Amino acid sequence: MAKATMFFPPDFLWGTATSSHQVEGNNRNNDWWQWEQDGGHIADGGRSELACNWWEDAEADLDLAAEMGNNAHRLSLEWSRVEPQPSVFDDEAISRYREILQAMHTRGIEPMVTLHHFSNPMWLAEKGDFDTGLVIDYFRRYAAKVVAGVGDLVTKWITINEPMVYFLYRYLEEYFPAPAARGWSAGMRALRHMLGCHAAAYGVIKESYPRAQVGIAKQYRPIEAWPSGNRLDRWWARRVSHFFNDLWLESIISGRLRWPLGHGLVKGLAGTLDFVGINYYSRSLVRFPPRPGRLYESGTPDGGTMTEDGFFELYPRGLFEAIQACLHYKKPIYISENGLPDATDKLRPAFILSHLREVWRAISFNFPVMGYFHWSLVDNFEWDRGWTQRFGLISMDPETQTRTWRPSAHLYKEICHGNNISSDQAARYAPQLLDHMFPGQAPET
Ligand code: FCB
Repeated sequence: MAKATMFFPPDFLWGTATSSHQVEGNNRNNDWWQWEQDGGHIADGGRSELACNWWEDAEADLDLAAEMGNNAHRLSLEWSRVEPQPSVFDDEAISRYREILQAMHTRGIEPMVTLHHFSNPMWLAEKGDFDTGLVIDYFRRYAAKVVAGVGDLVTKWITINEPMVYFLYRYLEEYFPAPAARGWSAGMRALRHMLGCHAAAYGVIKESYPRAQVGIAKQYRPIEAWPSGNRLDRWWARRVSHFFNDLWLESIISGRLRWPLGHGLVKGLAGTLDFVGINYYSRSLVRFPPRPGRLYESGTPDGGTMTEDGFFELYPRGLFEAIQACLHYKKPIYISENGLPDATDKLRPAFILSHLREVWRAISFNFPVMGYFHWSLVDNFEWDRGWTQRFGLISMDPETQTRTWRPSAHLYKEICHGNNISSDQAARYAPQLLDHMFPGQAPET
């Protein structure tokens, strides 16, 4: 039988992604820990507790990542550990992060480090975190401390993870720890302050390490009107897409705020972007008028497949569309997150292959996609969904801390080691894909 193999560039980064609060455990000093204790906010009353025990032993999972052939890993630093009280920095925490980053290097794993991934130190939350402009100076100082402590071990930085999701889930909807004030205008203010934080951190990193690459992780989702929609729905889809997908990145490139984010120049912001990190999960559908407090809906318009819990539609083509849409920033692109909740691993092998086919397709057009980070290495604490969602290539039981490789982990291992995806992998891990992904027939002999 003829076999098809799609090769990736030799220096392509194959990684997985995590964030501090989701894996470290015992992050008692941040707003998420508090939110979990308050009760009623997390599915099934879940709590992060020990999470994946990374603070004690990230090395054990890094061994697994290395065995899987990962040559990169995206992690985040926990501000509340680095600066447990305002202006009080914990050198032991910095040393622990040095150890973890060193452990990556010794295993041939290149770190990509995020400075802010959804969690805030308690003291900062009490001062109003992103509601107040003070956060920019605090963030600059935190970044400076981190850069002085671990900058020699890091070549790729992400300042802020998914600002628009943070805005939606915290200021419009009630999934994330409550800010001092919810609502549209408080949210816009927070987004402006986050841009200021990004610019401040960019400056601090570049001052000490001019060759470091600094980007952001932007959740990018194609936003469309429901197929039954009318012109108004389609107009609204374009507005929402511009707001959710482009406004933030365009502000960074031009240094200028645009409505509804604000107006005018932000000092030091223009051009502070060396790469675009795309976090891609799915597309979204809209109709006008939207439901109050909702920007978009998830669902499938044409009998497509949803994740096991109906969380989102499986829509691999959207990853290609996201990459294509980000080309106009003229920057290297990393897929900084992509994955799905799937405890039984029924859908994940096909998910991985079909999404990587879109990445490969982009690369074959010479689009500058430099790496792919699957979310996630092991099951971890999924924010408001707690432990009810399992995103790991490797399953992890939070009670016993036992790790078990899902078939997807074996598949990803083959991909990372071979630097390719193939019809042979599809035949073994996701035969339902063969007709769609590899429709050609071998000639009869
Ligand atoms: C993204 C978050 C990440 C994880 C995945 C499933 O929005 O950045 O922390 O929760 O979703």
